[in-house]
Amino acid sequence: MKSKVNSQPIFVKNTNSLLSVEEEQQKFLTEYPNFQLTSILDELRKNDYANLDHQGHIYLDFTGAGLYAHSQVQKHQDLLKNTVFGNPHSSNPTSLAATHLIERTRETILTFFNADPQEYVCIITNNASGALKLVGESYPFSNNSHYLLTYDNHNSVNGIREFARAKGAQINYIPVLLPDLQIDQQELSCQLKNIDPAAHSLFAYPAQSNFSGVQHSLEWIQVAQEAGWDVLLDAAAFVPTNSLDLQKYHPDFVTLSFYKMFGYPTGVGLLLARREALNKLQRPWFAGGTITVASVKGDKYYLHQGAEGFEDGTLDYLNIPAVEIGLKHFTSIGYETIHNRVMDLTGWLIKKLANIRHSNGRNLISIYGPENTQNRGGTIAMNFYDPEGHFIDHLRVEARANQQGISLRSGCFCNPGDGEMALGLSADELTSCFAIKTNFEYQDFRSCLAEKSTGAVRVSLGLVSNFEDVYKMVKLAESFVDLKYHEV
Ligand SMILES: Cc1ncc(COP(=O)(O)O)c(C=O)c1O
Repeated sequence: MKSKVNSQPIFVKNTNSLLSVEEEQQKFLTEYPNFQLTSILDELRKNDYANLDHQGHIYLDFTGAGLYAHSQVQKHQDLLKNTVFGNPHSSNPTSLAATHLIERTRETILTFFNADPQEYVCIITNNASGALKLVGESYPFSNNSHYLLTYDNHNSVNGIREFARAKGAQINYIPVLLPDLQIDQQELSCQLKNIDPAAHSLFAYPAQSNFSGVQHSLEWIQVAQEAGWDVLLDAAAFVPTNSLDLQKYHPDFVTLSFYKMFGYPTGVGLLLARREALNKLQRPWFAGGTITVASVKGDKYYLHQGAEGFEDGTLDYLNIPAVEIGLKHFTSIGYETIHNRVMDLTGWLIKKLANIRHSNGRNLISIYGPENTQNRGGTIAMNFYDPEGHFIDHLRVEARANQQGISLRSGCFCNPGDGEMALGLSADELTSCFAIKTNFEYQDFRSCLAEKSTGAVRVSLGLVSNFEDVYKMVKLAESFVDLKYHEV
């Protein structure tokens, strides 16, 4: 697929060839002088994330998962070593110790997102997908409802459409537009007016696409609510490098996973729900921990009000206190420092990657999403092309990165809508592929679309990214210059 690369005439001067890392860094610092204000993160990387450099890792998969600091693990271990925790939901001392820390963690979470406890409830889940499923399965969709979502949602948001469909709701997608993969604003405004005020309708979008890094305006939240929608904001890819202030914006539901912010613990996610919106949800079942009373002979149950009614079974009570430790770690660094550092590195990396050319003047890389730092975060999706414009299989790029100790990611990142738009896959093409067989594996998909790329390469920056990381990524990219796709 040729997309926006390779339209240049030949004989453009080859501008490749990085200088040494020291020279490039010097030029980078001249261009981004405020980067030096984030040097606290260089110190932190040296001391608290020492495994990265000791083991020679170039970590460029922060949208896959954040990294944890040694001190986070140490503090958590100390806590566990020095305390006795029992299963919460009881009044015995060890149970109360666990309950106390869980409740303190909820308060810390609300404070971190500047959420008013009178307005928001903090529901702890296993991950962002668990939080999304809670909303999906409980939302009062009906025949007159709408489920409106943007193309660039993660599959765990797309999956809610199956709950909506089962209850007869109408499902509508707002497309993203090439080349920047931004939302079609006109279509959005139009669709937001398309609502039955008597029915419950839900609008879901990511604050930041985990495919393209595109960030969407948080102003839409209020616009949609004023038109009668409940709004679900998937913040999983946004909050690792951008602050979310819930006094300024008031989405009805916010979902995220903590490991994406600070790496540890895994297995703990969050649903922040406005109390008013939470009251609309209808849980399809009850479980241990969610009820005040349940009877077998009386065939009756009563759900807890608030968070507990949505937390099935025993919470991960030993790991939840590590969330508080992670949030404090994050706060001690400060969002501004994290955000500014990531965006400076992103700006440099995009510019360098977008300018790499083959000897015949054609671009090596096509970036999906904005080719600057406007309306985006530090996640960059791209494909590589040979001098004749044939795409180079993303798996081959990943394989070469692996050999060099670079952790990046390739594929579609559970974001098929952005992928299909970026890669130019049409609905007709996809439908005829899916008609081939009933048990459809990813390999079938690849062979059906043999002439086109079925995925992209994604690099994502985060908390402890440094200049050397992005430099090595550009070096890796340059190693593909002038190679034919079958030679890689
Ligand atoms: C934007 C977005 N939403 C939701 C998820 C799902 O997160 P989890 O796999 O932790 O449930 C991800 C994970 O990559 C994501 O990037």
